[in-house]
Amino acid sequence: MQNFVFHNPTKIIFGRNTVPTIGSESVALGRRGLLVYGQNSVRETGLYDQVTASLAGAGIEMVEHSGVQSNPMLGHVREGIAKVKEHNLNVIIAVGGGSVIDSAKAIAAGSVVDHDVWKFFSGKKSIKNALPVTTVLTLAASGSEMNSGMVITNDTTQEKFGFGHRLLHPKASILDPEVTFTVPPDYTAYGAIDAIAHVLEFYMTTRDPDTPVQDRFMEGLIENAMNSCERCLKDPCDYGGRANLMWTATLALNGLTGAGLGRVGFPMHMIEHSLSALYKVPHGAGLSVVIPGWLSWYRRHDEARIAMLGRRIFPPSDLQPYTDAQIAERTIIIFKNWFGKIEGPVSLEELDIPVTDIPQIAENALALARFWRLNEYSQQTIEEILSLCR
Ligand code: NZQ
Ligand code: ZN
Repeated sequence: MQNFVFHNPTKIIFGRNTVPTIGSESVALGRRGLLVYGQNSVRETGLYDQVTASLAGAGIEMVEHSGVQSNPMLGHVREGIAKVKEHNLNVIIAVGGGSVIDSAKAIAAGSVVDHDVWKFFSGKKSIKNALPVTTVLTLAASGSEMNSGMVITNDTTQEKFGFGHRLLHPKASILDPEVTFTVPPDYTAYGAIDAIAHVLEFYMTTRDPDTPVQDRFMEGLIENAMNSCERCLKDPCDYGGRANLMWTATLALNGLTGAGLGRVGFPMHMIEHSLSALYKVPHGAGLSVVIPGWLSWYRRHDEARIAMLGRRIFPPSDLQPYTDAQIAERTIIIFKNWFGKIEGPVSLEELDIPVTDIPQIAENALALARFWRLNEYSQQTIEEILSLCR
């Protein structure tokens, strides 16, 4: 187990009828707010009225910044920053999923500097300050509601880059599972797959051989993501299913799973971000294709780790003395079959991505691999992994 510092300052307010606390949580941070949200869902679900009533009731003057699209774009973030500066706003309220929350974080960081916000993403500038962010989470997936990360796509260069900074943690996040009752089946599934990917990235890339606390915690999160996702697909208004999926997705990327693991990587995300940037693929759908492919490639490097996971979460029903090779292969097949069962795509073809595009996808991903210091991933290696995503 490696040395670590775990400090997560985000206040989580979880459960039924918690949305009305967004006003008091936000006004404590600022009285002039930018309200950031997506396309239609917040209005269609009535959440917009609940949130704006709470903010107005707390005495917050609001400027709206709607229209965040899935896989959020830099141009739209820049427009939000311009609004904050024009109206001298001092708190950013995000109502949505990871795309909305990440946009809010980028606006919060970009509003307090004179240079372009993309300089943070390209590593040319570092974050020294940021406006406070509060959130109402509407989709269980990214974990952005309780972490320091943000992922934005540069409209011009088609680079989808992400990074984290401790100042980007939301100050408070409201997690009401009932708000996710309206999440459609596809994004319910994509969210569970995203949470599973967040856990697998750390579970598979840690080099420390002695982390039983984290291992068991992560294995439990994967099992819960699968079980609660199936509950929600069976009954979208299953409060327990939605509550467990929501909390699982938050815990899957709030820093706790990585504590003590030492250096870990995010290789599956490094590749998936290119699928989202180049083809506008929903993040979880891209991971549904990349996870089995990357695991098949990774088997050559650490079959035992995949087999350990498989023996624990998918134990064979008979007591045959299966080898690690057999269990590792079976584990990858189980994941791939489960993704297919919940309507997740499992091949580039299912995403309508021609395999002839693999070199250019790999070239796009290579830029992020360098930025994230994933130096073991060359153009050729990424092409090899993508050729297994079929
Ligand atoms: O735009 P609206 O109309 O709101 O519709 C959204 C959107 O189309 C819809 N939706 C959200 N809540 C809903 C709902 N529909 C009905 N009822 C609700 N309650 O769902 C669609 C997808 O929303 P989005 O925010 O894009 O999904 P998600 O939460 O999966 O976020 C994806 C983004 O998160 C980034 C991804 O790269 C991607 O850009 N990530 C952020 C991370 C972080 N900050 O740590 C880590 C993750 O790995 C991920 O990379
Ligand atoms: Zn993700």
